[in-house]
Amino acid sequence: MTQANASASGTFRIGGDLEVNRLGFGAMRITGKGIWGNPEDPAKAKAVLKALPETGINFIDTADSYGPYVSEDLIREVLHPYKGLVIATKGGLTRHGPDKWAPVGRPEYLRQCVLMSLRRLGVERIDLWQLHRVDEKVPADEQFDVIKQMQKEGLIRHAGLSEVSVEQIEAAQKYFKVVTVQNLYNLGNRQSESVLDYCEAHDIGFIPWFPLAAGELAREGSVLSTIAKQHGASNGQVALAWLLQRSKVMLPIPGTGDAEHLRENVKGASLHLSKEDYEALEHAVR
Ligand SMILES: NC(=O)c1ccc[n+]([C@@H]2O[C@H](COP(=O)([O-])OP(=O)(O)OC[C@H]3O[C@@H](n4cnc5c(N)ncnc54)[C@H](OP(=O)(O)O)[C@@H]3O)[C@@H](O)[C@H]2O)c1
Repeated sequence: MTQANASASGTFRIGGDLEVNRLGFGAMRITGKGIWGNPEDPAKAKAVLKALPETGINFIDTADSYGPYVSEDLIREVLHPYKGLVIATKGGLTRHGPDKWAPVGRPEYLRQCVLMSLRRLGVERIDLWQLHRVDEKVPADEQFDVIKQMQKEGLIRHAGLSEVSVEQIEAAQKYFKVVTVQNLYNLGNRQSESVLDYCEAHDIGFIPWFPLAAGELAREGSVLSTIAKQHGASNGQVALAWLLQRSKVMLPIPGTGDAEHLRENVKGASLHLSKEDYEALEHAVR
C-alpha cells in the first residue's frame, strides 16, 4: 500500500457543519496503565500526537477522565491551537484509580467538567462535548438540561452521548441535538446494531469504541485473517475497513500509544473490501 491518508475514509459532517475525515484517533491510550496517570514513556505518547497531521486524521477523541486530565493536557501541549483539527472530549465519569470509573451526572459536576476541559484544552468553546455516561442516580432530564444550557451559553458547539440506547437518545433530543453517539461496537461485538441503525437514519455520527477488538475473529486461520492475508493487510486494518463500509455515519477512533501502530491503522482507510469479503465477515459474526 502507498502512503496512507485518513481522507481515503471519506468525510462526515458532525452536526451538519463540522467536517472531519471519518477515520479518527482515540486518545485514551496515551496515558498510564489502566488509563491512570502519566504514560510510561511521555516522548513516545507525544510522538503519536505529533504524527497525527501527517496521517490526515483530523478528528481526535479524548475525555477529561483519561489519566484523568493527562490525555487532554498532552493534546494541548502538542497540538494547540489545533489548526484544522476537531478535538472532541467527554465528561461525567470520575476516576478512583487504574481501570476504575464512576459516573457522576449532577449538573454542577457536568458544568465543572466542561469548564475545566475548556481550560485544559485552551479553547473558548468545545467543538464536540459528549456525556461519557448517563448517571442512573441522577434524573436524566437534569443531565440533558445542563448540556442544553451550556450549549446556549456557547461553552460547547455540539453535544453527543456515550453508551446509550435509542430511548436515551430520543430523551436527550428533547433538550439538544444529539450529533454523535459513542458505543462499544466492533466486528465481534454488535450489541449496538439497533443504535447504529438509528444513528444512520438520523444522520448522527456513530463512534464505535474498541473498534479493533475483533476478538475470536482475529485468531490465525479465521475468516478475518484469511481476508487480511489476501489483501496483504493486518487483521486490524480489515476490521477498520469493515467498520467504514458498514455505515456512512461510522467514525472509528482506533486508540494507540504507538506512532507506528497509528500509521498502520490509517492504512485501513484505503482498504476496500469486495461485497463477498464484506459479507463473509458479516456472516462470521451473525
Ligand atoms: N465512550 C467510551 O466509553 C469509551 C470507552 C473506551 C474507549 N473509548 C474511546 O475509543 C477509543 C478506542 O478504543 P480503545 O482504545 O479502547 O480500543 P481499540 O482502538 O479497539 O484498541 C486499542 C488497543 O489496540 C492496540 N493497537 C492499536 N493499534 C494497533 C496496531 N496497529 N497493532 C497492534 N496493536 C494495536 C493498542 O495498543 P498500543 O497502544 O500498543 O498500540 C491498544 O491496546 C479510545 O482510545 C477512546 O478514545 C471510549
